Amino acid sequence: RKKVTLPMLREMHKKGVPITMITAHDFPSAHVADAAGMDVILVGDSLAMVALGMEDTSEVLVEEMLLHCRSVARATKAAFTVGDMPMGSYEIGPAQALETAIRFVKEGRVQGIKLEGGKEVVPTIEKITSVGIPVLGHVGLTPQRQNALGGFRVQGNTSARAMKVLEDALAVQEAGCFAVVIEAVPPEVAALITQKLSIPTIGIGAGNGCSGQVLVQVDMTGNFPPGRRIPKFAKQYGNVWAESFRAIETYRDEVKSRQYPAPEHTYSMKEEELNRFAE
Ligand code: KIV
Ligand code: NA
Repeated sequence: RKKVTLPMLREMHKKGVPITMITAHDFPSAHVADAAGMDVILVGDSLAMVALGMEDTSEVLVEEMLLHCRSVARATKAAFTVGDMPMGSYEIGPAQALETAIRFVKEGRVQGIKLEGGKEVVPTIEKITSVGIPVLGHVGLTPQRQNALGGFRVQGNTSARAMKVLEDALAVQEAGCFAVVIEAVPPEVAALITQKLSIPTIGIGAGNGCSGQVLVQVDMTGNFPPGRRIPKFAKQYGNVWAESFRAIETYRDEVKSRQYPAPEHTYSMKEEELNRFAE
């Protein structure tokens, strides 16, 4: 498979070929996503919950994101890689944001970064893209602002709120984003925004009128950690947890009953050597 580049993503968008994106949070989850042909792999700050067991994304540190980005980058041969800048690592201003973005490239080894927000992050996006680091926008439901938004809820569901999402999407496009994630917005609104934009929209909980889709990997493979809140829009395509559980439970039973290890799982020894040893 050919390495996915920004011109290739632009070409897909021009031809109306949907862009596939998924999160990964470590070496194995990136390996399987890359092998399965994902166009873009995002190291989302959702790793706070799915890989580190944190309550929400506000707790995860840049250093922790970078460690996981590096492991994802090592496994990713073809997909375009994007790292999610965590809360607190870019809001102070464009200089802070650029410093963080450079760390994501140099230490995290990802190709682009994502940050949340609309009009208010325009100077920040301009600064980061000015040095040649691709930026993925994120509008609509922006989980890093969950406390101000009053939780995880649909955005853009009145004409005034829809207008705000559109204005934010247009603003981050103007600022230089190569694409924009639109989260938790009615499908008609996301489709209209997609029509009005010249860059691809990547939907999550935003219907199938977007230029591409993204899901959190553990939600769609059914490998979520305990207590994970599964959003309405996440379709579960597998049950990896149940398969791991079944395997581990069977192993437990076979050890307890001495069925495992069987002769084929052991090493052999010459009989005369064994006799000498046993004497
Ligand atoms: O952190 C994340 O996983 C994300 C995607 C769901 C877009 O931001
Ligand atoms: Na995120």
